[in-house]
Amino acid sequence: MMLEVRDLTVYYDNIRALKGVSFSVEEGEIMTLIGANGAGKTTTLITLSGLKKAQSGSIRFLGKEITKTTPQSRVALGISQSPEGRRVFPGLTVLENLEMGAYLRKDDFAPDMEKVFRYFPRLRERKKQSAGTLSGGEQQMLAMGRALMSRPKLMLLDEPSMGLSPLLVAEIFEIIRRLNESGTTILLVEQNAALALKLCHRAAVMETGRIVLAGTGEELSRSPAVQKAYLGG
Ligand SMILES: Nc1ncnc2c1ncn2[C@@H]1O[C@H](COP(=O)(O)OP(=O)(O)O)[C@@H](O)[C@H]1O
Ligand SMILES: [Mg+2]
Repeated sequence: MMLEVRDLTVYYDNIRALKGVSFSVEEGEIMTLIGANGAGKTTTLITLSGLKKAQSGSIRFLGKEITKTTPQSRVALGISQSPEGRRVFPGLTVLENLEMGAYLRKDDFAPDMEKVFRYFPRLRERKKQSAGTLSGGEQQMLAMGRALMSRPKLMLLDEPSMGLSPLLVAEIFEIIRRLNESGTTILLVEQNAALALKLCHRAAVMETGRIVLAGTGEELSRSPAVQKAYLGG
């Protein structure tokens, strides 16, 4: 297993947002977490990237215990997050935003910049433009491109389809598929359950801080409970 999450408990003050979450991600796969607003999906991702501390439980990545390590050291190990709401630096240019994604690297990252521009040609055309003036879809591409600049083994994607037109969503999902085919393991959090279940290899359903169902994307798509709650019948 590339990532093993065991019995993770996470609090915001006295609110228990994760109540013993366990799951794993295999090298090479797309694993997806679906669930309603407030289920704990974002909390799971930010605990994996180290921005939020776990109260108890453990996170192992490539055989190493990382539960108490810094966010920077997790990036250095190969975990990179594209945050919910595509938090780009609005006052910086596209190029500068991408450079921020490579801030831990001391080697030449020009080839990675080139790779990002091949995945997202629109960013190349806009590389001198400030990020705050990009459209929502372009900002999503920039957030993903920035996450790619650290050359991740595991990418954490938090609701990449949020607020985008169906055409752009299809484009972003196609890029996620290509990234995965070129060897990047993906943990995808999505409200668009129908698309996410089609794209992923395995999935889990979160409800109020717990994983209540897990299986292959196909199994979950066929589950009556999932169809009723997340696929509109
Ligand atoms: N900064 C915060 N302070 C207090 N409670 C929070 C905070 N962020 C999230 N929560 C709570 O934690 C729970 C899980 O939230 P979240 O992980 O954002 O869910 P999701 O991403 O699935 O919508 C919710 O009950 C939410 O209200
Ligand atoms: Mg969220």
